[in-house]
Amino acid sequence: MHQLSVTDMDYSYNGDRLTLQGINLDIRNPQLISIIGPNGVGKSTLIHCMNKILSPTRGTVLVDEKDVSGIKPRDLAKKIGYVPYSANDTFPLTVIDTILMGRNPHSKWRSDIHEDMKIVREVLELMDITPLAMRPFNELSAGQHQRVMLARGLAQQPEILLLDEPTANLDIRHQLDVIRILKRLSVQKQIVVIMISHDLNLAAKYSDNVIMLSKGTIYAVGKPEDVITKESIKAVYDVDADIIMSNGRPITILLDNEFTEEDAKTPENAHLEGSGAALFDRGIS
Ligand SMILES: Nc1ncnc2c1ncn2[C@@H]1O[C@H](COP(=O)(O)OP(=O)(O)O)[C@@H](O)[C@H]1O
Ligand SMILES: [Mg+2]
Repeated sequence: MHQLSVTDMDYSYNGDRLTLQGINLDIRNPQLISIIGPNGVGKSTLIHCMNKILSPTRGTVLVDEKDVSGIKPRDLAKKIGYVPYSANDTFPLTVIDTILMGRNPHSKWRSDIHEDMKIVREVLELMDITPLAMRPFNELSAGQHQRVMLARGLAQQPEILLLDEPTANLDIRHQLDVIRILKRLSVQKQIVVIMISHDLNLAAKYSDNVIMLSKGTIYAVGKPEDVITKESIKAVYDVDADIIMSNGRPITILLDNEFTEEDAKTPENAHLEGSGAALFDRGIS
């Protein structure tokens, strides 16, 4: 069974202001879910509460009908994998050792090492990073780094995988690679993948369902086309946008009505010269 239920949950960091308030979610069956919303609304706090990194101030989080507060960390790690926001956590370890750490919850004694290595080889293959296995993790590019972190989360063989901004700091090619892998995992490995994203268009294109947060509460949940609308973007981000539909998925176009024609004028003496291999071999002025 794959079920994650959050019921009447509040969270406060300091016992005073509520960072999350009245959160209710019932997530069942394999799918890709995106959590969206402005900076500071509580997206990371929400997945930390799901994963027992934080304990809710009120309410419950159940995994397969068991309260996570009563599940031992090691057992919880077999159910829920977690890939943290990756900006500044690097280990002076090889890639293979980093991924092996994901097997910790499953390993009892050294006798398990063959099974562990089999799974590590499988996830290396799946993430297309086998040639990197012996490289030091902290010398990788951002895209390679993110694939290793995903591989480590998968080595946990969780039923539910939580990811905090897995496409942050990646170029568009690597963003597409990562999110496509996540969508495929939900289908092929039959897991629930829940990711935080700032990219409304990527979230809309690949997610089965979307959770939109606003100031510590859920503003809307459901299918991308029902959640990502002109009205919700104005209400939650205070941004004017147009939505166009492509294959049934919403594409958000930012309007920015505050940017005037006057603002957009090119300064009179703006000048740039250079040469490019592809298109223009002349000055642009
Ligand atoms: N460790 C902490 N102690 C106190 N306040 C925190 C802590 N972590 C986050 N916050 C505050 O909680 C709110 C939600 O943070 P966070 O969940 O990180 O938002 P998001 O991931 O949506 O950007 C923010 O106002 C943030 O400043
Ligand atoms: Mg965050």
